[in-house]
Amino acid sequence: MKKTIFILVVILGLLLIVWMVMHFNGQNKIDKSGYRASNRDERIKIVDIEDLEARAAEIIPEGGFGYIQGGSETETTMRRNETAFDMVDIVPRVLTGVLNPSTKTSILGIDIALPVIVAPAAAHGLAHVSAEAGTARGAAAAGTIMSVSNYASSTLADIAKAGKGAPQWFQLYLSKDDGFNRKIIQQAENLGYDAIILTVDAPIGGYRIRDVRNDFKFPLELPNVAKTTIKTKGQGISSVFAAAQNDLTPYDVMRVKAMTKLPVIVKGIQHPDDADIAIISGADAIWVSNHGGRQLDGAPGAFEMLPEIAGRVNKRVPIIFDSGIRRGQDVFKAIASGADVVAIGRPVIYGLALGGWRGVFDVFEWLEQDLKRVMWLAGAQTVNEIKNIQLRSKCIPVRCE
Ligand code: LAC
Repeated sequence: MKKTIFILVVILGLLLIVWMVMHFNGQNKIDKSGYRASNRDERIKIVDIEDLEARAAEIIPEGGFGYIQGGSETETTMRRNETAFDMVDIVPRVLTGVLNPSTKTSILGIDIALPVIVAPAAAHGLAHVSAEAGTARGAAAAGTIMSVSNYASSTLADIAKAGKGAPQWFQLYLSKDDGFNRKIIQQAENLGYDAIILTVDAPIGGYRIRDVRNDFKFPLELPNVAKTTIKTKGQGISSVFAAAQNDLTPYDVMRVKAMTKLPVIVKGIQHPDDADIAIISGADAIWVSNHGGRQLDGAPGAFEMLPEIAGRVNKRVPIIFDSGIRRGQDVFKAIASGADVVAIGRPVIYGLALGGWRGVFDVFEWLEQDLKRVMWLAGAQTVNEIKNIQLRSKCIPVRCE
């Protein structure tokens, strides 16, 4: 009898340990009905940043992972965002005396440790319980800028608090309700955000087949827009986009300029003429992006359009670039093609899922080291000097000889 009780106690004890490991390690993938994001809080070992996607897929529930990782339709544009970088070579210089290159730079008057910042992306709460507050803490520790989507899962106030005074930009999708636009911009200003990013490439959402197949609906609230303009929990991204303004014009850039004293960055530029239009309408910076291949599929890789746009902008305003940046050599190529800084979205969210704020820090630290190595090998001592290094391309139409 005593022996049976002893065996039962041992079995129960083991079951308890298994449950605790699964529960507290945030390992379990639970589907939408009981969505549970990771709560890991640890440094992550990164051998190659491109491994993070598969590692994150192990811990982020399927619907949430599909939303984060996916692009629109055939995902051709999403893939081209990355492969476009392979079509261009860095022609290295030697005998330059370069020693321990510096990745420090600045953008819109803000000093940063490396020319890589956090791109605005919705709903970090899908990846980690700390959500954007965790990302902001990691970005601050890495010495870079946190961009906050207005479809974030943390409140603007909590994100500002987590950043502890580090630079943060607020990304806005204009609402049909102008009172809301004014209110949220005012709130961002009061909380100390340093710039407004106006995204203009999403009059509606792209057709994201993964989300349709997974019947993905946000399992969590998007608190900055919920209750004020739209119901978000239980809605798909298309319904969320549908509640925003669906017919943007240059006048809207002017309107936002008039609503704020902060710099306004116009994000989602893919055509040189639109860069001109945005600048004429008052943009303080241009953000070249195709939204990570999540909007118009069949469009070029974002990097393919960068040289032509940079030529047209001709240094009138700074250029931020995103869509497809995964490694130091991509950062280098984008800067050599006219970008001032680049932004990353998915790798940040994967780092967050895998290690919380420490994982976000590790992603930036890895990129910083990788970029530094590329600069040293290519012969650029500073970020500015990257622009003097020649790129060679036979394959991207705008650069074909
Ligand atoms: C997206 C938006 C919300 O791409 O940025 O899902």
